[in-house]
Amino acid sequence: MSQPLSVLGNITAEQFLNEYWQKKPLLVRQAVPEVIDLLEPDDIKSLALEENVTARLIQQTGSLHDQWKVQSSPLSKKAFKNLPPYWTLLVQAIDHYSMDLSELWKKFHFIPQWRRDDIMVSYAPKGGSVGKHFDFYDVFLVQGFGARRWQLGQYCDENTKFIEGQPLKLLSEMDITFDEVLEPGDLLYVPPGLSHYGVAENECLTYSFGFRMPNLAGIIDRVSDHFADEQLFKNPVKDNERSPNHAIGEITAKELRTLKHQLIETLMHSDHFDHAVLSLMSEPKYPDNIPEPDELELEDLLDLIGSTYTIQLEPASRLLYTQEDEKLMFWANGERLNIQSETAVILKDIADGQVLNFDARFNHHSLLNDLFPLINDSILMLTSPEENEA
Ligand code: SIN
Ligand code: CO
Repeated sequence: MSQPLSVLGNITAEQFLNEYWQKKPLLVRQAVPEVIDLLEPDDIKSLALEENVTARLIQQTGSLHDQWKVQSSPLSKKAFKNLPPYWTLLVQAIDHYSMDLSELWKKFHFIPQWRRDDIMVSYAPKGGSVGKHFDFYDVFLVQGFGARRWQLGQYCDENTKFIEGQPLKLLSEMDITFDEVLEPGDLLYVPPGLSHYGVAENECLTYSFGFRMPNLAGIIDRVSDHFADEQLFKNPVKDNERSPNHAIGEITAKELRTLKHQLIETLMHSDHFDHAVLSLMSEPKYPDNIPEPDELELEDLLDLIGSTYTIQLEPASRLLYTQEDEKLMFWANGERLNIQSETAVILKDIADGQVLNFDARFNHHSLLNDLFPLINDSILMLTSPEENEA
């Protein structure tokens, strides 16, 4: 962890997390050279037309190019006819379609996998942008093709006002504090809340490595689902030291405190909170991107042992684990997994991002029995040697 990392401009992960992460931006030239020309504008255009892809086509209309129009997927070829001079095509979860891109998450290994959202790509002709705005999440903007000028401005929050009457949450002004052109391979880290504005210098592709942040409303919602499913929590809460001396119209502050205390005690001393968070954070954001696998039989798996096949996490699926009393517990795509301890050891490595050779150590009946449904549910994927070379 303490080595300087080229993706961070040769500072260490500790330094980045202490000084920059969620605090201030960081520009790194040639941080991700592997991304250069990995995909070209035409690849993005064709992908945007595919079924199940989540994409948006943003156009700047009007004589001042200040009237915005957003068209969401499914997009047809017709949508790209008669475009105004400035437009942007955004395609979400591009890492679910390109293993090479998905591999690049490893550059950011110092942030846990459960915080990853997806890699979005933006494609714009010269002058195209999505306007001045801010996001509520961390993003590493990586230039893949062509060049984009990025300007950064003031920090914003939930009270920030947007331009009225537009389909995007746009800022009318930015107090520019940063103004740089990013070339292919360059990276700009933008913390949550920092206003930014990226304008294509020429036909360009920019990748946004975005990170999800849980919010308390979402967690409470999920906890309450768990509570609602639990018979024990439906029992009435008993009175605590009922006294006769109070006005009958009042619910006292003490009574409220007692109820709050009981709720918090229950959260603290049961695993319902942990399970709610794990199920929430392991939910796939784009479930339609999870491929239908070729149904395998257990014998097919046995045949592959010792071959050059590898096993890893399917990029569109999510696999998380936590440790309770030294026991590893796994959650995948919103559901808890029921697996043996020898499977847990292997699954932990996969959840930690490893690609494992499907070698002799998989030759155990109980292990294969556990892995088999995970492969057939596309939580794990077996990759053939040809695919590895592709
Ligand atoms: C873009 O790449 O144009 C938009 C990415 C962002 O602003 O988060
Ligand atoms: Co943004």
